Amino acid sequence: MTTTTKRPIRSERLGALPPYLFAEIDRKKRAKIAAGADVINLGVGDPDRPTPTFIIEALQKAAMDPRTHPYSPGRGYPEFRQAAATFMKKRFGVDADADKHITTLLGSKDGISHLPAAVLNPGDVICAPDPGYPVYSSGALFNGAETHHMPLTAKTGWTPVFEDIPADVRDRARLLWANYPNNPTGATVELSFFDTMAQFCNEHDIIACSDHAYSEVYFEEAPPSFWQSKHVNLDETHAIEFHSLSKTFNMTGWRIAFAVGHPEVISALAAAKDNHDSGVFGAVQLAGAEALNQYDHPDVVAMREVYRERRDALTPGLRAMGCEVDPPRAGFFCWAKCPQGVDSMSFATRCLEEANVVVIPGAGFSKHTGNWFRIALTVEAERITEAVERMKRLNW
Ligand SMILES: Cc1ncc(COP(=O)(O)O)c(C=O)c1O
Repeated sequence: MTTTTKRPIRSERLGALPPYLFAEIDRKKRAKIAAGADVINLGVGDPDRPTPTFIIEALQKAAMDPRTHPYSPGRGYPEFRQAAATFMKKRFGVDADADKHITTLLGSKDGISHLPAAVLNPGDVICAPDPGYPVYSSGALFNGAETHHMPLTAKTGWTPVFEDIPADVRDRARLLWANYPNNPTGATVELSFFDTMAQFCNEHDIIACSDHAYSEVYFEEAPPSFWQSKHVNLDETHAIEFHSLSKTFNMTGWRIAFAVGHPEVISALAAAKDNHDSGVFGAVQLAGAEALNQYDHPDVVAMREVYRERRDALTPGLRAMGCEVDPPRAGFFCWAKCPQGVDSMSFATRCLEEANVVVIPGAGFSKHTGNWFRIALTVEAERITEAVERMKRLNW
């Protein structure tokens, strides 16, 4: 048998993904749990409470109907898209047409990751927030496009400064991403931010993309939609907004979301997706329609109160440790500055090693957030209080 040098299995594009910086923390966390330690995991951004019963019941009923069993139509069931359009109207006052402006997604990650295949060409540029959800740039990378990172800093309330985008980048940019309520910074914006974004994108012929995955998790005023801006129109503005049922209804595992946007952007995304997947299980869509039709159900409202209580259990304790923190107004992430002189990797390592508490170091998100860390409000308030007590005991 002749031995030949084999070519690498992984594609150059896969190999070009940034390294996973949390691997070491993950390994230590698993070792601690295996050794029986009482680890409090404030790292995971996944709702800890179950999906509300009215949605599970809708799923049970729909799953018994064999009409939900075959492949579903590419853009999704009319019932789901109509519920999405009604939600846009009732919640934001936005008139969207269920057939023209809406498509169903297997979670918003599905839409976010496949949009580049629908609208980008090799050599195009996308503008993505830094720090930000990594799928904006991995989607670009897999399609031969480059990412321009727009720094988010405390000085500008964790919003990008569009004028800082260099002219040559701006001219090649095809997509620009914004995500408010924001992961990881917990920042929110007023509608005027979307006005500025819409004007900038329109002027430079860039498709504006708003990731609204956390729109219904809020503790103060309800966050606005991009489509509420006075500078936009669903039939004219090249833009798209992603909405997810994952966080609003504790449905992360169900994989259901929708995008609402300009008809051509929506049809391009649906066409790209036709070549990747075969739609969301029909029963999940019918249960999702029920969820959206009752987006202000008492269970959903109660969940907001739960997150608020957790936020309020957390922030005073962090301040007492010397961490600078703005209590988040929405989303379920609290973004705080490490105590003076401590970098986020050392902070997260000590929290885990000495207090059995997992937090996510800001260095994992961006080069310029190495003094920040993220805590998810996805464990019960008593556990958050316990975690803060343990962290306070370490001398910072
Ligand atoms: C900012 C942001 N966008 C989108 C998603 C994707 O959510 P899903 O695919 O469950 O809708 C997440 C998930 O954590 C997220 O944090």
